[in-house]
Amino acid sequence: MTVVSGKVAVVTGGASGIGRGIAEALVEKGATVVIADIEQGALDATAAEIGATPALVDVSKAASVEALRDLVLERFGRVDIVCLNAGIGPLSRVADLTLADWDWILGVNLWGVIHGITTFLPILRANPDGGHIEVTGSIASFASNVGLGSYAATKMAVRGIVDALALELAEEDSKVHVTLLAPGTVSTNIGTSSRNRPAGLAGGLSDVDISQGVASDMRFIRPITAGRITVRSIENDDLYCQTHPDWWPIVAASAERVRASFEQYPVMEDEGPRPGEQGGPRA
Ligand SMILES: NC(=O)c1ccc[n+]([C@@H]2O[C@H](COP(=O)([O-])OP(=O)(O)OC[C@H]3O[C@@H](n4cnc5c(N)ncnc54)[C@H](O)[C@@H]3O)[C@@H](O)[C@H]2O)c1
Repeated sequence: MTVVSGKVAVVTGGASGIGRGIAEALVEKGATVVIADIEQGALDATAAEIGATPALVDVSKAASVEALRDLVLERFGRVDIVCLNAGIGPLSRVADLTLADWDWILGVNLWGVIHGITTFLPILRANPDGGHIEVTGSIASFASNVGLGSYAATKMAVRGIVDALALELAEEDSKVHVTLLAPGTVSTNIGTSSRNRPAGLAGGLSDVDISQGVASDMRFIRPITAGRITVRSIENDDLYCQTHPDWWPIVAASAERVRASFEQYPVMEDEGPRPGEQGGPRA
């Protein structure tokens, strides 16, 4: 169990949407919360509305995340719960993606999480009572689709990191735990992610209102609900946190395609040389 009351929490992307919902739910449970975001206006407004401390950050820049850590430690003397949630969700077919698109989405959605882990994990591991890292993935951490190539690349990557980190922490009997949040559709500002795109080369990635398109018949929940579901999983040290348990068939269909590929052909019999044996790779 992770205790939330009385703890210090940092939520990236906390000025809007799911991050704001997580921050509000943490405040409800008695945590002191720092919301960190790239959008100064929304950051200040949200912080005042929910009773959190604002901190400007660009998660795609390591130095910026390190400055966030320094600010939190200087102000509160500790950090216990870190929610790596900042993210963008513009869509593009893979063929239309430019390198500038890849830089932007990998920078925020993947490097943002990497920067958060490298910066905050040592602090949580040094805490006598450990701590908790939440990483906001997506249902796209488990299944991709048309237009989701670059987004799913980041969300599957962070799942890979979380899976490994969870095993490593368990192996060392750590008091630090990690949760991958895998939301379905939540009513947020993700459909205008390009508001935060750094100036530079244009690309294929563009904002899409999925509530009018691919997800028009899907169930949208409010950010505060996603936040409360997330905090429940943080408290229970769940590895995966599902906001839409009714969406298992989407993941099952993807898993079924993988399973079928394993059964497609019989084993091609071969006994290759082992490392160090004659003709094998060098040991
Ligand atoms: N809304 C959904 O349906 C949905 C579904 C699955 C996963 N997610 C994930 O939830 C997370 C939050 O997205 P949301 O839907 O709440 O969108 P949102 O746009 O409402 O919130 C995202 C926040 O991240 C901030 N941000 C963007 N770039 C940043 C940067 N470089 N540094 C710091 N902050 C930055 C934005 O300013 C914004 O406040 C994302 O990781 C997203 O991929 C959302």
